[in-house]
Amino acid sequence: MRISERAERIEPFWVMEVAKAASQKAREVAHTDRPVVFLNIGEPDFTAPPRVQQAAQSAIENGQTQYTPALGLDALRQAISQWYDSRFGVQVPASRIVVTAGASAALQLACLALIDRGDEILMPDPSYPCNRHFVSAAEGTAVLIPTTAEERFQLSAAKVAAAWGANTRGVLLASPSNPTGTSIDPAELARIIEVVREKGGITLIDEIYLGLSHDDQFGQSALTLGDDVISINSFSKYFNMTGWRLGWLVVPETLTPVLERLAQNLFICASTVAQQAALACFEPESLAEYERRRAEFKARRDYFIPALNDLGLSVPVQPDGAFYAWADCTAACQKLGIKDSWDFAFAALEHAHVAITPGRDFWHRPDCPLCALFHRQLDGRIANRHRPPQCLVAAMNSTSDHPSVFEHPIRIYWEDTDAGGIVFYANYLKFFERARTEWLRALGFGQQVLRDQSGGMFVVSETAVKYHSPARLDDTLIVTAELQTGGKASLSIAQCAYLRTPNQNDRLLAEGTIRLGWVDSTTLKPGRIPAPVLEALK
Ligand SMILES: Cc1ncc(COP(=O)(O)O)c(C=O)c1O
Repeated sequence: MRISERAERIEPFWVMEVAKAASQKAREVAHTDRPVVFLNIGEPDFTAPPRVQQAAQSAIENGQTQYTPALGLDALRQAISQWYDSRFGVQVPASRIVVTAGASAALQLACLALIDRGDEILMPDPSYPCNRHFVSAAEGTAVLIPTTAEERFQLSAAKVAAAWGANTRGVLLASPSNPTGTSIDPAELARIIEVVREKGGITLIDEIYLGLSHDDQFGQSALTLGDDVISINSFSKYFNMTGWRLGWLVVPETLTPVLERLAQNLFICASTVAQQAALACFEPESLAEYERRRAEFKARRDYFIPALNDLGLSVPVQPDGAFYAWADCTAACQKLGIKDSWDFAFAALEHAHVAITPGRDFWHRPDCPLCALFHRQLDGRIANRHRPPQCLVAAMNSTSDHPSVFEHPIRIYWEDTDAGGIVFYANYLKFFERARTEWLRALGFGQQVLRDQSGGMFVVSETAVKYHSPARLDDTLIVTAELQTGGKASLSIAQCAYLRTPNQNDRLLAEGTIRLGWVDSTTLKPGRIPAPVLEALK
């Protein structure tokens, strides 16, 4: 069968291809103590809040499932209009709002309405990969303009002006952006729009992460900058409704009938049930919940970005919105002999069971060294919060040739203290105070990576040790202990310490084998354990 040139031009969305591998791995390890942590696909781990779910159920029960007008339910367009007013202080009449099947359909409609064969659309590199394919599907050409960390990976007015050519039709921007989570400075955005206006072009701006802005300096809609700006938005991200397939776009009044005509033919309308449900997104209870979740995303960012930087996966620009981290894995790849972010992502999946996304389809540098990590599943128990970055350390280590792993049998003792607590001792390890506290508090997974100024011991292949039974040598160091209450708990063992000879009151808690390695604290490169340390251990 002959496939159209248009279809042949469109590359796979590699994020989804990598996601297939992650799902396969997830099935394989689902029932182990290290299930896959998904940091790869850009969707919140929250689902629609209760009022939205109830509204969907009512719509189905009440038979409100017929087609809606192609532009969307009037009540929903009205609710979106009010939200722009209350949240962003911008007046957008409902007549300018077109409800669509996600931002994807909104982008498609906008491109089909405005781009002719041969038209060029300027966009930053890196950017959301599907955008260039929407342009291409409309027979246009995406012109990717390289950006740098200093530019917050966004275009400037000067760059737009310099790149504007005879065939340029306009710009397609995203703020905050996927994959960088960075926004365009509002003053610069105003200048860009001015340049585009002077050239008689169009400004398309994808604002689907605007609701998840973490910084007041950036959290303003481009719609404040003129009625000619076309803004794309969605219920997928801030409203946590990815699979419901609902979005919208705001267009100049004159464009509404054009999009209506296209939407009538191409889609008839967006999902009726999703539209009915989305009305409940704007109720005070739901909005309060969305704001709580936004705060949670910010808290995750504040934890995750420094943790990545500590690992040597540096994030050159602090994201001010969305839930992405665009991390540079160049140094890590070089140290580990990994070719690029593609291989790095697969190594992390294989060895650490952490699914991340390689930079490949976001950025078009031939040496594309970056990988996007999505910090979406970092809530949950305290201990789990710490898992993804530490798993990456394990991945980095296990993919390299490690000459100096130290294996040692461990015996762990405990005794009751007069104060009513429990004290742990090991034959050459002591329990790190914090780990012990976390154990008692969280009764969950825990692991410590320790470093001192020059380097530190870390657990290479941690050992699950059952109470009084030999160790498994395949996993993180989890000492599983039966507490006197009968509860089950995990202990983290870390920090090298001096030998303490057990005394008569000590009771043997667990024994097994631990494998330790040495990591340079600045480069994170595994290396030989310094002779004096090795000596001390023996
Ligand atoms: C920048 C950007 N635009 C558009 C989309 C598509 O969103 P939707 O689910 O609303 O179609 C995504 C999805 O990840 C995105 O990141």
